[in-house]
Amino acid sequence: MYLQVLINNGDIVMQTNSVRPGEGLQTAKMPGHWVLARLGKRVLRPGGMELTRRMLQALRINHTDDVVEFAPGMGVTARLTINQKPFSYTAVERDQAAAKIVSSYLEGDRQRCVVGNATETGLPDASASVVYGEAMLTMQTDETKRAIIREAHRLLKSGGRYAIHEMCLLSDNVDPERRKETEQALTGVVHHGVRPLTITEWCKLLVLEGFEVESIHQASMSLLEPRRLINDEGFVGALRFAWNLLRDSEARQRVHEMRKVFRQHRMELAAVTVIAVKH
Ligand SMILES: C[S@@+](CC[C@H](N)C(=O)[O-])C[C@H]1O[C@@H](n2cnc3c(N)ncnc32)[C@H](O)[C@@H]1O
Repeated sequence: MYLQVLINNGDIVMQTNSVRPGEGLQTAKMPGHWVLARLGKRVLRPGGMELTRRMLQALRINHTDDVVEFAPGMGVTARLTINQKPFSYTAVERDQAAAKIVSSYLEGDRQRCVVGNATETGLPDASASVVYGEAMLTMQTDETKRAIIREAHRLLKSGGRYAIHEMCLLSDNVDPERRKETEQALTGVVHHGVRPLTITEWCKLLVLEGFEVESIHQASMSLLEPRRLINDEGFVGALRFAWNLLRDSEARQRVHEMRKVFRQHRMELAAVTVIAVKH
């Protein structure tokens, strides 16, 4: 059981939650996103809330939309989407504990979060008008990235919109050796595969699976920088994160290592959201 402090329309809401992603795993071995979630961080995508808002603006979700979100994590974007009052909202999350947290934000039979894999959701063909996923493709192999994008294409009706929000490499002419070093450094501290593509490569993958790219927006990769932490988590959330860091030396070490590598590679890395359409 743990205490979750949420800010809802300016009110501070406290709720107890008996599930935590990464439960049962040692902090030293846990994927970085669950270390951050355990410390109270809810926004786990590289471009933060600013890029998420841009993505949602470009998606123009309205009351007629059937929305599918891949990998909602702690449910932060799920709640923004629900506020747009789409006709239906379905999330597909691989982690059971995260799915339980997201489900606690959903109401009625047109909003649900299923435990499943975004490569094979089991949802019907052409059942969605919007599909999006954040910080969930970069961690996959090239083959799985393609399988997930293909699944988004299968789920969408003609004219449907698909958005990704991922880490990217800034230069189109990255030296392969340097690229390998960057991937190894990131994977080494995150303890999970981290394979960012260039913006051109992300767009190519989308086009290969039948999408047309509509718009692209970029932000810096500042996930663990103080200013971004306050922007993403709010002042109280950032304080809670700092307080939890102070009390947990193992997690502090992990965060320190991640931030160090993100900073070392800051000239090469960024965050990108790409909005694509199925014709
Ligand atoms: C870095 S977190 C991002 C969470 C959230 N989208 C965010 O941006 O804050 C990665 C999430 O992807 C989920 N995930 C990874 N691979 C997945 C897959 N193949 N299908 C569904 N969920 C997946 C993980 O369980 C985790 O919740």
